Amino acid sequence: MNVVNVVPMSHSMPYPPADEPHVSVMAREVVRLLQPSGGVFLDVTLGAAGHSVALLEAGAASVIGLDRDPRALELARARLEPFGERALTRHSSFSKFGEVLELLGIDKVDGILADLGVSSMQLNEAHRGMSFRAEGPLDMRMDTTRGETAIELITRLDDDELTETIGRLGEERRARRVARCIRQELEAGKLATTLDLRRAVVRAVGPARINGVDPATKTFQALRMAVNRELFELEALLNLAAERIRPGGRFAVLSFHSLEDRMVKRAMQNPVWEPLSRKPLVAEEDELAENPRARSAKLRVARRAEGVP
Ligand SMILES: C[S@@+](CC[C@H](N)C(=O)[O-])C[C@H]1O[C@@H](n2cnc3c(N)ncnc32)[C@H](O)[C@@H]1O
Repeated sequence: MNVVNVVPMSHSMPYPPADEPHVSVMAREVVRLLQPSGGVFLDVTLGAAGHSVALLEAGAASVIGLDRDPRALELARARLEPFGERALTRHSSFSKFGEVLELLGIDKVDGILADLGVSSMQLNEAHRGMSFRAEGPLDMRMDTTRGETAIELITRLDDDELTETIGRLGEERRARRVARCIRQELEAGKLATTLDLRRAVVRAVGPARINGVDPATKTFQALRMAVNRELFELEALLNLAAERIRPGGRFAVLSFHSLEDRMVKRAMQNPVWEPLSRKPLVAEEDELAENPRARSAKLRVARRAEGVP
């Protein structure tokens, strides 16, 4: 299989090369609002451990980091080594973070951070199949040790389900056409790689970039979210967080998708939470200039109310 860049020069969102680690988004704001000094924090999306390192450097007593991606954990472990026993890492989906705390004998933590979505490393590694910029298998799983791949999902879903997935998770208006073209390519035996999938989408919606965005972006996002059950994971995290953060502790969620931000906003309207701002925070100009990935980031932070069960 060739590794080919589809649109290397003109894409509006340049990605660092595959061996360059993920750059943490809104780390300053996360540290300021989580107030890590002396506390025990749970980073449920460890990634390259950038936020965890920032929390530890800002005085967190310890950080427990989870990731469902074994490769991310390997990298994170290396970066966290200098912190010794102050940093613990576990392979887990965040919907199951309660079980991890149980095993560690921890009832409540001082704060939880979730930085949703995928890392640049995952997007940049062609063999993960998450990006249409390079040829890779239609996998898209964050946790490569289990679960259904994108091609298995596409094969299993019927036309209506595929349309619904692409329409809802990708907010793609032409979802039915896209689903039909994908199905045709599959049935013709021509859907094996990310570039095949991109070609099917382009056949459905045309090659034009809208606001500099590749026409396959929405479909890839939708399928990745479905493969990784990202909304289900978020719902579970939101349901569990209040139980596991001590009164006065803090919960920070960085989201990159309007559906996710809406879910976080709604969850933080529960009286167990006191949101620290009415509107989500967004990245400052200086960060946007350095890290285009921060463009769509929305940060919501809430304090666990005292005296509310
Ligand atoms: C945006 S990156 C996090 C980057 C990290 N905050 C940093 O500063 O380097 C998201 C990470 O969360 C992981 N992830 C996403 N959903 C997850 C879930 N439901 N459970 C556990 N890890 C998840 C991904 O595998 C990825 O490594």
